[in-house]
Amino acid sequence: MSAPPIKERKPVKDMQKVFHYTDTMSRKPTRDNDPYEYMAGFGNRHQSEVIPGTLPAGQNNPQEPRFGLYTEGLTYSAFVAPRYANFSTYMYRVRPAAAHNGYKGEFPNKANIENCFLTLNPKVATLAEQGEWLPFPLPEENERIDLVDGLHTLGGSGDPNLREGIALDVFMINADMDHRALCNTDGDFLIVAQLGNLDIQTEMGKLFLQPGEICVIPRGIRFAVRLAAGHHVARGYITEIWGSRWELPDLGPLGGHGLANPRDFLHPVAFIDEELHEDWSIVHKINGVYNAIQQDHSPFDLVAWHGNVVPYKYDLTKFSSQNATSVDHTDPSVNCVLTAASRDPVTPLADFLWFGPRWDVASNTFRLPYFHRNSATEFLASLYGNGLGRSDDFLPGGGSVETSFTPHGNFSQEYVWEMRNQVNEPRKILESMLISSVCSIGMND
Ligand SMILES: [Fe+2]
Repeated sequence: MSAPPIKERKPVKDMQKVFHYTDTMSRKPTRDNDPYEYMAGFGNRHQSEVIPGTLPAGQNNPQEPRFGLYTEGLTYSAFVAPRYANFSTYMYRVRPAAAHNGYKGEFPNKANIENCFLTLNPKVATLAEQGEWLPFPLPEENERIDLVDGLHTLGGSGDPNLREGIALDVFMINADMDHRALCNTDGDFLIVAQLGNLDIQTEMGKLFLQPGEICVIPRGIRFAVRLAAGHHVARGYITEIWGSRWELPDLGPLGGHGLANPRDFLHPVAFIDEELHEDWSIVHKINGVYNAIQQDHSPFDLVAWHGNVVPYKYDLTKFSSQNATSVDHTDPSVNCVLTAASRDPVTPLADFLWFGPRWDVASNTFRLPYFHRNSATEFLASLYGNGLGRSDDFLPGGGSVETSFTPHGNFSQEYVWEMRNQVNEPRKILESMLISSVCSIGMND
């Protein structure tokens, strides 16, 4: 038997053709245009210093920290939480957060936030059918909308007071947060960039976020969102979770690797503002209401920090997808990027899913999503491309929702073609497309 002919192996130059926007042959763990350095790993304790030697050795709270800094602690979990769920960060900063000029209470704003999704709230109602949103409208040129003013809630479940629930928000902005930082005391923000590049400054350092990337800002961390150079408008989605935290899903029989790999989660390095003595407003979102704290110094004055309450980012194009290679349709849970547990031990509060470009290879199989009625409410967002063969109105920047047990599927000619004519050869699907999804039990609208 003769050997097969030798084909010339051509190195991949365009990483988008292999579903991956990061140059895997480079040492840089991000896309080329990302200006920042990061520390890799999920759930680790990290440490970072602007000035080497700032972190105290062998203790957390020295009598006199170096350079006249103040030690400030932040606990995210209960003090006595078991180790796997124990989260805290020590900060060594120029001025403590407690040095402020008072709480200024509620202030006028243009946001439209809802956080109580219980039946007693007359402002929310359960949507008992499918819903679809056209791309959410961007701010008018004559208005100035930053992230604080640009947040709009679509739906959710529970209430942050109960420490259980979620809110789905969208944001449309055309302005930087100017001397204004946001601190969500209700829960963790999972921010999905859809349009425009974002420059996000947090107490622990800076994150660059572009369409197809996500970041998580833990509860209690102060941050400011600005438009990256050359970008004048931005849109994205936020999933906020209460009483839970985002975790990597267990992999079961997949073993130790695959889906979102821990080393692809990137954390900022310490960064200190150049101008420290300016007036700032710290906006606390407390039980869905904005309250401002005024202070005469920057909240971004950490010279060093260590801990595991740290914002992080992840490039969804790095997702290592798994799927059926013989017959049938693997459940979409195989596309879970991050999951948040609920008090029900067998049902997550929310799963954040990826639907992106991949090979489709199953034989003797109807390969499109089959008709279904799921217990979870499904929210889909098109980040780019027009995906999943949904309606013509399912466009980037919009969204769709199917509440629990809403029957749905595809009634297009494509469905009939797939059933009768599709020849089950390997093919690439969802090329140049990216869709994210949040699945959760019992969301209201
Ligand atoms: Fe569905």
